[in-house]
Amino acid sequence: MIEFRGNLFGEGSADGLAVAVTEGRGFDESGRWVVAHLPWLEKHLDDADFTGKSGQVVVVPGGEGVPYRRVALIGVGADPGIEQVRRAAGLAAKALDRMPTVATSLHEFPVSGAAEAVGLGFVLGSYGFYRHKSEPKPSALATVVLLDGDRDSVDAAKRGATIADGVTIARDLINTPSIGKSPATLADFASQLAAEAGLRARVLDEKQIESEGLGGLRGVSLGASNPPRLVELWYEPDDPKAFLAVVGKGIVFDSGGLSLKTAEGMETMKTDMSGAAAVFGAMKVIAALGLPVKVLGIAPLTENMPGGGALRPGDVLTARNGKTIEVLNTDAEGRLVLADGLSLAAEHEPDLIVDLATLTGACMVALGEKIAGLFGADEPAALVEAAAAAAGERVWRMPIPDDYRKNIDSDIADMKNTGTKYGGAISAALLLKEFIGDVPWVHLDIAGPARATEAEHYLTKGGTGFGVRTLVQLARDMAV
Ligand code: BES
Ligand code: MN
Ligand code: ZN
Repeated sequence: MIEFRGNLFGEGSADGLAVAVTEGRGFDESGRWVVAHLPWLEKHLDDADFTGKSGQVVVVPGGEGVPYRRVALIGVGADPGIEQVRRAAGLAAKALDRMPTVATSLHEFPVSGAAEAVGLGFVLGSYGFYRHKSEPKPSALATVVLLDGDRDSVDAAKRGATIADGVTIARDLINTPSIGKSPATLADFASQLAAEAGLRARVLDEKQIESEGLGGLRGVSLGASNPPRLVELWYEPDDPKAFLAVVGKGIVFDSGGLSLKTAEGMETMKTDMSGAAAVFGAMKVIAALGLPVKVLGIAPLTENMPGGGALRPGDVLTARNGKTIEVLNTDAEGRLVLADGLSLAAEHEPDLIVDLATLTGACMVALGEKIAGLFGADEPAALVEAAAAAAGERVWRMPIPDDYRKNIDSDIADMKNTGTKYGGAISAALLLKEFIGDVPWVHLDIAGPARATEAEHYLTKGGTGFGVRTLVQLARDMAV
């Protein structure tokens, strides 16, 4: 937990100071103050080729008359927007991670929302997953002082930290090894989170999953010894302005099932529940912020394993809405559990359903590792695109062409769970579309950005918590 507070410029001291520098060495007031007090600094920056380019970081020691042990200068580029502030705060948290108290002027950046971005960036930038290290080295950062920060700035920074706490919940769940997150364990965690956040939780066990007709989820779970769960979280404020349903893929480990993955392909598959993690994290934040939007979160949770009872290629499953799916590849399991999750969400007739899923390698082929595929009709797609842009999560619109539907035609069932050689992310989206009824819907394929392959700005290697910020922003947007 990082504490945020304000003080008057020049008052007191801190262990570290973080200031932003725009391209061409544009300093703000505190930057100019540092330059004035460290006569050698400009020459040092020349020698370090520090121009203020986005992402550049130089850390220098304080000196005579400078009440900081270290000063971090963070490049934010030529025309910095709000995302540059988040990233600069994240970089500052990393550059000064041995400093218990860090002062900054980043919240005074002349873009709206800067203080919230500072709160978010510092918390996310100091994240680490140390549970399994015998010598953990967590960040020492405990207090961020907003220089000259008034009450409003401090409150905004705390709001950013609240959002980041939801992202942190998701990251921790994603980074947890599969042995420690069976469906039952994850469902217990979600119930606990619900109790703390004032949400209502409903958990279906394997018997209820069968009796409620969740044939997709049940089918995927057949090869696993740990039984499946389906978690529903309800946030029901008084006088809600809208009703949002969010559905997250919760495969706690994806071996591929009988259509077994390669050893390499399985290395990252503990993260195949990133959609469910984003749903849990976002709902916690939405409740904490008290947003006037009713939200239903659904997470179908199971392992995809090749045990003796496992689903066989050629088997046919009946999903919650009665439609049948021929399973030709047991590794295309995400769409099978989402079929039930989406059907359940649609039954409640929300204004909008958003699903998040680490669904296809094909989406990573199309968009790389940092950008999510966004599928949906024009109107809801525009809404979610705007929320993602405002929140600083990168998405790209993808098509759902009707004439591709025949690619998932099955000889014996309503559809099959594989498509043709190309356009795999679209085939998956076309299948999901069969389960949303008449409800406006957006599908986010987060296979790429759910995980970071290296640390950068406010990201740490591993689970990113992608989607939490977009869902929170979407609920904010739907609240007005
Ligand atoms: N969870 C995977 C998708 C994935 C792959 C996410 C790599 C992140 C990194 C999904 O269940 C899967 O295996 N999809 C298959 C579908 C195919 C069999 C039609 C894929 O993308 O190969
Ligand atoms: Mn799979
Ligand atoms: Zn999967």
